[in-house]
Amino acid sequence: MTRQAWVNGVYVAAEEARISPFDRGFLFADGVYEVTAVYNGQMVDMERHLDRLERSLRELKFGTMPNRKELEEVHRRLVADNGVTEGYVYLQVTRGAYGQRDFVAPDKPKLTCFAYAESRALIDTPHARNGSRVISVPDIRWSRRDIKSVGLLAQALAKTEAKARGADDAWLVAPDGFVTEGASSNAWIVTKDGEIITRALSNMILAGITRHALFDSLGQQGHKITERSFTLEEAKTATEAFTTAATGLVTPVTEIDGVKLGSGKPGPTTRGVQKLYYTAIGADVSKAAPWVNE
Ligand code: PDD
Repeated sequence: MTRQAWVNGVYVAAEEARISPFDRGFLFADGVYEVTAVYNGQMVDMERHLDRLERSLRELKFGTMPNRKELEEVHRRLVADNGVTEGYVYLQVTRGAYGQRDFVAPDKPKLTCFAYAESRALIDTPHARNGSRVISVPDIRWSRRDIKSVGLLAQALAKTEAKARGADDAWLVAPDGFVTEGASSNAWIVTKDGEIITRALSNMILAGITRHALFDSLGQQGHKITERSFTLEEAKTATEAFTTAATGLVTPVTEIDGVKLGSGKPGPTTRGVQKLYYTAIGADVSKAAPWVNE
């Protein structure tokens, strides 16, 4: 089946999708994006993703918003028409193309909007089962990481370096030695006493939707999450760690810079968090992820 995309209001075959090289997204990374998980053919937390998209656009003073009802419909239709039961929808909105390169943004932008859906395993993946090994790299990004900007060069370089060094992913470390987040995820650690820790929200990190959902699910179970910064050194002494993102959901981290955490295998707290999150998005864990109970 030909993969279908949606560009500026029109559904087209993905390979036919076109935008102008003068697009400000291309010239200046002047755009934002969202990646929303799909499970059982349903969007996961779409409203929160669209809220964050609108916030990102407001923070960048776009002045114009895409039509929210239309975006909701586009998500649903891309999922249905592309037969996606498990995967994600990618959505990007930029400040548009004007046939020239002008640093100054237009007052009333004509937005470029692009979306596509892709099938991909989210729950039963090697990393979700066995954990991922991360390296640390300096966080060289700009200081508005709360905006989900398409300016992702630092993250792309971090992940490329991780791969070149035989690791699975990268965690970003600020000059003060504190971990900010994963290259495309929020970072969490678990102490030997079972305390679950993740960095508090600020301009230093993205307010993850998966992170938010875990606060809800863990809170309902009466589990406390400590929101505080932790250093790379502390992370290496943690007994467990994991990341959260729409793409990897809850992914155990078993090694940081070659240092094994705890037993070197996904630990019981992380397994519990995976189970909770998978259940929250409608999975029958005994079938979809029996390994969380092992
Ligand atoms: N990234 N932090 C960063 C830097 C991210 O890029 C992401 C997500 C997250 C987690 O946010 P959420 O739980 O809303 O997915 C945190 C997406 C998945 C990506 O760039 O592909």
